[in-house]
Amino acid sequence: MKILGIESSCDETAAAVVEDGRKVLSSVIASQVEEHKLYGGVVPEIASRRHAEAIVPVVRRALNEANASLSDIDAIAVTYAPGLIGALLVGVNFAKGLSLSTGIPLVPTHHLRSHIASNYISNPDLKPPFLCLVVSGGHSHIVMVEDYTNMKIIGKTCDDAAGEAFDKAARTMGMPYPGGIALDKVAEDGNPLAFKLPRPVVHDAPYDFSFSGLKTAVINLIHNSAQKGIELNKADVCASFRYAVVDCLTTNFLKAAEDLGVKRLVIAGGVSANSLLRKTLEQECKKRSYELFMPEKTLCGDNAAMVGAQGYYEFLSGNVADSDLNAFATMSIEKG
Ligand code: KG4
Ligand code: ZN
Repeated sequence: MKILGIESSCDETAAAVVEDGRKVLSSVIASQVEEHKLYGGVVPEIASRRHAEAIVPVVRRALNEANASLSDIDAIAVTYAPGLIGALLVGVNFAKGLSLSTGIPLVPTHHLRSHIASNYISNPDLKPPFLCLVVSGGHSHIVMVEDYTNMKIIGKTCDDAAGEAFDKAARTMGMPYPGGIALDKVAEDGNPLAFKLPRPVVHDAPYDFSFSGLKTAVINLIHNSAQKGIELNKADVCASFRYAVVDCLTTNFLKAAEDLGVKRLVIAGGVSANSLLRKTLEQECKKRSYELFMPEKTLCGDNAAMVGAQGYYEFLSGNVADSDLNAFATMSIEKG
């Protein structure tokens, strides 16, 4: 079964053709990141306009590169939530028009579920149930994936997402948007113990995260030193901050796994490309004899191959949209 996946929830317009949820026949991504860099973050109005320009050529290219025509496509999976509403509407309306004119079923697909599904592409043997740490620019969740379309939130951030915290810290140090990637690289040359940063915990919610205080702590450290004319070692600041974020993420994730008795762990989302997060979990899972699955780095960020993968399982479970499908800026991963 061939699924055409379409993604436009943030600043990447993407389309892909995926066979049986696992085999990527094509994957095309048109990134707007260079334009948003000028403003230090994604400008929603600009994002919507660029999606409108890019969506037709990106879908055409994805079909061409898969050597497929629309008559070969069994379902159109589109990201309908969560994300920037104007950006999502471009993909949703395009997919609705395409579905209406061809009669191909339309499958509404949740962005975070798709991030999780990137793992089915990178790890062909992976099957639920498993516990997944979903860490992106907008979300930080620990999710029990009972089945491909049945999920339960075990923990979540009560303020900033991990990616957001990485981006803000990087921006304060003058790194271009999205700073998480740059900060990760610079941190490789620094000492993670150089600066003592807090590990905030959420009272009565052992699996929840809070990154806002940690973000403020590193921003204050940078600003206070600048005011006093003290030059900080940037690599040390990056390494200490990265260590603190990864420490919070892995501590809660491993505690949830232990408490729930789950031995198969998975990570997903843009921040799952973080080198220290990957390395720490590899070491900790090995110690505990847990299985660990990660998406290959090229599939960690936003793409449509993951939408085609999750869309396949959503379609099999009977999730097909009516012609009144809408986009939603927020939507629980449990509702899908
Ligand atoms: O999943 P994603 O591509 O988009 C959203 O759905 O939000 O995640 C983007 C986020 C950004 O905050 C970016 O800085 C972060 O993922 N990110 C990283 C790394 N690569 C991307 N954060 C830390 N280390 C990385 N290597
Ligand atoms: Zn994403």
